[in-house]
Formats: sequence, C-alpha cells, structure tokens
Amino acid sequence: MFFPVGAHKEVGLAFNPLKAIISPRPIGWISSIGADGVHNLAPYSFFNAISESPPMLAFSSSAGTEGDKDSLKNIEETGDFVVNIVSKQLFEAMNASSAALPRAVSEFAEANLTPKPSKLVAAPHVAEAPCYLECRLWKVLDLPASPNGNANRLVIGEVLGIGIEKALITDEGKVDVTRYQPIARLGYKDYASIDAVFESPRPQE
Ligand SMILES: Cc1cc2nc3c(=O)[nH]c(=O)nc-3n(C[C@H](O)[C@H](O)[C@H](O)COP(=O)(O)O)c2cc1C
Repeated sequence: MFFPVGAHKEVGLAFNPLKAIISPRPIGWISSIGADGVHNLAPYSFFNAISESPPMLAFSSSAGTEGDKDSLKNIEETGDFVVNIVSKQLFEAMNASSAALPRAVSEFAEANLTPKPSKLVAAPHVAEAPCYLECRLWKVLDLPASPNGNANRLVIGEVLGIGIEKALITDEGKVDVTRYQPIARLGYKDYASIDAVFESPRPQE
C-alpha cells in the first residue's frame, strides 16, 4: 500500500497512521514557569535528543485556535525548562497534566504532583519523576504552519543538569530503565512501557 500524505482514507485507513509509524516516541514532560511565577506542566511526544555534545534536545508545540501553548509562552519568557521522564507509575498523572487549563492554573496541583525547585534553572521539576533534565532555551524555530494556519514551533534546548533517583542506578553505575519503566507514545491513543532490555555490542567493538 502507498498513498500521498492526506489520502489515508482513500486507501481504507480510518486514521492518519503517521504517529503509529513513527513510534515509539519518548515523552518530554515539560515543566516551566511564567514571568508571573505560575508553574506549568505538559507532555510532548514530538520530542527527542538531537545531539550528545553539547547535549541538546527538542520538542515541537502545535498551536491551537488560541495561539501558542503555555509551555512555549513560559519558555520564551524565562528562557529555561525541565524535561521530566514519565515512569509507568506516573502515567495517569502525565495524562491528567495534558488537560488544557487556563494559564493561571498549574497542572502540578491538577495532577497531584509536587513542583520541586531546580538547581540550575528557574523552572521547577516534578519531584516524583525518576529522572529529569534541566535545560536552557537555545532557539525556537518556526516550522511550516498547519493548513488551518496554526503555528508549529520547535523548541530547542541545551541540557545543563541531570537529576536521577539514586535507587535506579545499578552497582555498575548504569541507569536501569526497567526499574521505572519509561512510557512511550505510540499512534492513536496507544502507549507502551519499557519493561525489558537487551544488550548488543556495535560491530568491531
Ligand atoms: C502523550 C501526549 C503527548 C503530547 N504531545 C504533544 C506534542 O508533541 N506537541 C503538542 O503540541 N502537544 C502535545 N500534546 C498535547 C499537550 O500536552 C496539550 O495541548 C497540553 O494542554 C499543552 O499544555 P500547555 O498549554 O500547558 O503547554 C500531547 C499530549 C499527550 C497526552
């Protein structure tokens, strides 16, 4: 089967399969703070690491009818943010934090989570998260807008600091993801968790 973008229904697919195909995607659970001091928390799965040294990551925010999302507005105002990692245990809280709340309302309270002060940035992190990355904004790139005119904007940040819960570190000094089972986004309303890992050397190693 092959079809040009947008023609999935003509070949019998009820939904656009793009996000099911580009999966699993990690979830950047972005915490930020506005100039007014209000905290914000929301999940973004158009998210990934984009370079190792310096460590950089990016997520993209798709504007709605009311313009840019609160995370992006805060990050542009204050110049920093934190990426929190979603464990299996935190799945429901992550989902709750995706509710479209007024900017003056913090999703931390709504999702029953604790905002904890960060060390290197103004944005708080999620105290309950297994790991988090404190980031400084590098650039916001304007991507092509959607056909209805809504903006898509790519937020690129540099990782300045890394927080990891001690109990997740093995005797060998590695992070054992199976101890917190990070959640990944698939297509449709589907998710997966990393419950098992296998190791393999690279060729010539
Ligand atoms: C798992 C998950 C992944 C999401 N990924 C994105 C994304 O990549 N980009 C985006 O614009 N919205 C994404 N959303 C929707 C936002 O989380 C939602 O619009 C949220 O209300 C934005 O909050 P904010 O305005 O406080 O930033 C996602 C929602 C969920 C549940």
